[in-house]
Amino acid sequence: MTDAERRAALDAIAAEVNVCTRCRLHAGRTRAVPGEGNPDTEVVFVGEGPGFNEDRQGRPFVGRAGDLLVKLLGSIGWRREDVFITNIVKCRPPDNRDPEPDEIAACLPYLQRQLAVLDPALVVTLGRHSMGRFMPGARISQAHGTVRAADPATGASVALVYALYHPAAALRSTEVERQSFEDVAGIPRALLDARTKRADRTIAATESEPAEPTEPAEPAEPAAAVTSPAMPNAAPPVSAAAFPPPDAPPDDQLTLF
Ligand code: URA
Ligand code: SF4
Repeated sequence: MTDAERRAALDAIAAEVNVCTRCRLHAGRTRAVPGEGNPDTEVVFVGEGPGFNEDRQGRPFVGRAGDLLVKLLGSIGWRREDVFITNIVKCRPPDNRDPEPDEIAACLPYLQRQLAVLDPALVVTLGRHSMGRFMPGARISQAHGTVRAADPATGASVALVYALYHPAAALRSTEVERQSFEDVAGIPRALLDARTKRADRTIAATESEPAEPTEPAEPAEPAAAVTSPAMPNAAPPVSAAAFPPPDAPPDDQLTLF
């Protein structure tokens, strides 16, 4: 999919969200909040649902939680416009209550379709509700700062998932805030791992193609030398040599664009 096609597909989903009446949350919204960001990104952040400011502006994470999210991203040299940011439910629950299971279920197809279009290498969940979708059964107290493979049923076909506390929780507790900065520092490493996973998938797909009958068999390329055509954009080629040894600190300035 080209950048323009991806953008058009995301705009089409947003247009549906903006007039959606699939669950009761539509009744109380000022504006729906489909999500926004770079259509060509490798990383999607998924929050819980719009709050007061988001509902007014129709944009995700524009209040105090959003300011903190921008600071957290800034701590690894990333900008919000480099990633895609959306929520589990696209309309504000009244008084910022938790979304109900039937509201989450009604809204999930939009997230699923956004992820299918964006095809991210890494999904970063913000808070319990988002984590619950991507890491079923996990507890936030244990899962924050950890990575797992995403279930393709989420819409992200080959992705890793990384869990963070919700920025609003970090606003309420300096300990959670401190922990959040520590967890965010692990995101670049998780993205490198996610790129490797995609490269391995591509290699496996290439190797499973039937060999040309008339050609003598080529010796298999060593995996380390194979670059990943699965990576969107002009991301640097993934090679094992580019990775720091496992005990080296992660490169916290890994750039997305
Ligand atoms: N909290 C969320 O979970 N999402 C937003 O968009 C804003 C605040
Ligand atoms: Fe539709 Fe989702 Fe809004 Fe419910 S929360 S009305 S399913 S867009």
